[in-house]
Amino acid sequence: MKDTSPDWICEDTQSILISSRAIQSRVCEMGKQITLDYQGKKPFLVAILKGASIFHADLVRSIGLDLSYDFMAVGSYGKGTASSGEVRILKDLDESLEGKDVLLIEDIVDTGLSLHYLVQALKTRNPASLKIAALLNKPSRRQIEVPVDYVGFEIPDEFVVGYGLDYNQRYRNLPYIRVLCQSSFE
Ligand code: IMP
Ligand code: MG
Repeated sequence: MKDTSPDWICEDTQSILISSRAIQSRVCEMGKQITLDYQGKKPFLVAILKGASIFHADLVRSIGLDLSYDFMAVGSYGKGTASSGEVRILKDLDESLEGKDVLLIEDIVDTGLSLHYLVQALKTRNPASLKIAALLNKPSRRQIEVPVDYVGFEIPDEFVVGYGLDYNQRYRNLPYIRVLCQSSFE
């Protein structure tokens, strides 16, 4: 199916960076790799709301393991677009991580600050292992090293929307990834 551009997005966004077809095929590959790597285990996936919800929903259906999952919502302290890195947990997990093989599911790793903070916080809950899967990675923006074990796509330093990622809560429902126009920030 061809990706279309509805009129309510045209003024804000540039061309499609990653098509829905490319996303589906890459997410499937990631699921296969995770299935191989976790053979004999029952991973516990933790998806970070709201951005990772769509990626997570597709990814879990590509993983052929006896897994379970939960969601966490985090918010950052401070205002503006710059990430302070200090996150506060808005919705916590329903169960303990003790002894579990935890796989954190993120939409995008940008500066890495919030993910770094979250990983430190979750490590104190004594999981058996803790790995990270992110759909998108912007390595050029990194301020702190975070080991991302599974990356869907490396992208340039652009603000992107779609497939769960938002700008002011909009555009999460686009089936592909688009770059937001610079003028939309003004
Ligand atoms: P950081 O890695 O601490 O800088 O923050 C990562 C978070 O910022 C992600 O989970 C997203 O919610 C948000 N974010 C960073 N870059 C983008 C983008 O290009 N589009 C939409 N959200 C983004
Ligand atoms: Mg996020």
